Amino acid sequence: MGDDLVLCLLVVSMQVLVPVVVASRRPPAIYVFGDSTLDVGNNNYLPGKDVARANRSPYGVDFPGVPTGRFSNGYNTADYVARSMGFVSSPPPYLSLAKSSSLLVLTALTAGVSYASGDAGILDSTNPGKTISLSRQVHYFNATKSKMASTLGSRAVNAMLSRSIFLVGVGSNDLFVFAAAQQNRSAAERQSDDVAAFYASVVSSYSATIQELYKLGARRFAVINVGLVGCVPRVRALDAAGACAGGMNQLAAGFDAALESLLAGLAPRLPGMVYSLADSFGLTKDTFADPAASGYTNVAGACCGGGRMGAEADCLPGSTLCTDRSHYLFWDWVHPSQRAAMLTAKAFYDGPARFTSPISFKQLAHKI
Ligand SMILES: *[C@@H]1O[C@H](CO)[C@@H](O)[C@H](O)[C@H]1NC(C)=O
Ligand SMILES: *[C@@H]1O[C@H](CO)[C@@H](O)[C@H](O)[C@H]1NC(C)=O
Repeated sequence: MGDDLVLCLLVVSMQVLVPVVVASRRPPAIYVFGDSTLDVGNNNYLPGKDVARANRSPYGVDFPGVPTGRFSNGYNTADYVARSMGFVSSPPPYLSLAKSSSLLVLTALTAGVSYASGDAGILDSTNPGKTISLSRQVHYFNATKSKMASTLGSRAVNAMLSRSIFLVGVGSNDLFVFAAAQQNRSAAERQSDDVAAFYASVVSSYSATIQELYKLGARRFAVINVGLVGCVPRVRALDAAGACAGGMNQLAAGFDAALESLLAGLAPRLPGMVYSLADSFGLTKDTFADPAASGYTNVAGACCGGGRMGAEADCLPGSTLCTDRSHYLFWDWVHPSQRAAMLTAKAFYDGPARFTSPISFKQLAHKI
């Protein structure tokens, strides 16, 4: 099998990849980990009626015209990050490749693989049984790497992984689940140190994930922090005036600060590790402060859904759509529109320096 695969790889790279490589000197591959903001269809393959899936119309109405499993009217943030780095779109979902070792290896070596799954959190206890947990995503990457190594050899695989991009965006679902559980508890049951314990647990788990990926050969991390989770339409619709939930945003800000320290602390300890931390929180905050500057006419409601602000119901086949999809920040009650995903990736790739630290995604992708 080895020889056939190598031959096949050569043919594919001559036909498809060489022009792209020449044009942009893109990284060898991109591997994606995280939640529904990055999922490109993994959840379509998960069994069970409680799994969040975007495999129905009108998801995908603007690209490619049929649902793909992306929680968007078109491309999502993973697609635009990948495009900015010289790929055609996000790499395909792991579960669409896993049946065939040779297809998995070919894809992993030439473009990368997406392990991202809607509803995933940093913690295994976030939405258990309904998602590919982050630890399982890493496990799947480990399995992928073993197969790549048995085809090309560990040395060559480690060399290409060290120049590849590891895109990670996760955390919102942990915050949603934690906030919901807190809300359910009486004031007497709530402990003042609950939040501190929560941060400690997500940060230690996130740290373990980064270190495992590092052990498996990852060196270039593009990490997206958690945005203003208290301002997603579904949360706003719970407020009589449609206001953001300030407490949830505060929870996100605290998490983001902890994530920033985590990465700043890890990088010096892991030789060769470089990262770009993208500030989704800061970007959404700026967008809310001046929606028109980004061409939005609506940053509060959902384009597809139902009820007040279009945000009291999920986006379903019969849902009413807004007429101006590119002027909405949110496509459904939780997820950004295709245009928002495009603007987000643009800001992280080579936008204003304040949206990435210590370097931009572009600098990460082109670092020698
Ligand atoms: C909150 O309480 C309600 C009613 O008892 C229950 O149905 C729901 O599952 C609880 N939610 C969480 C997150 O614990
Ligand atoms: C990857 O898989 C190998 C073999 O199954 C195992 O020994 C190793 O601990 C795994 N590594 C990580 C980081 O999960």
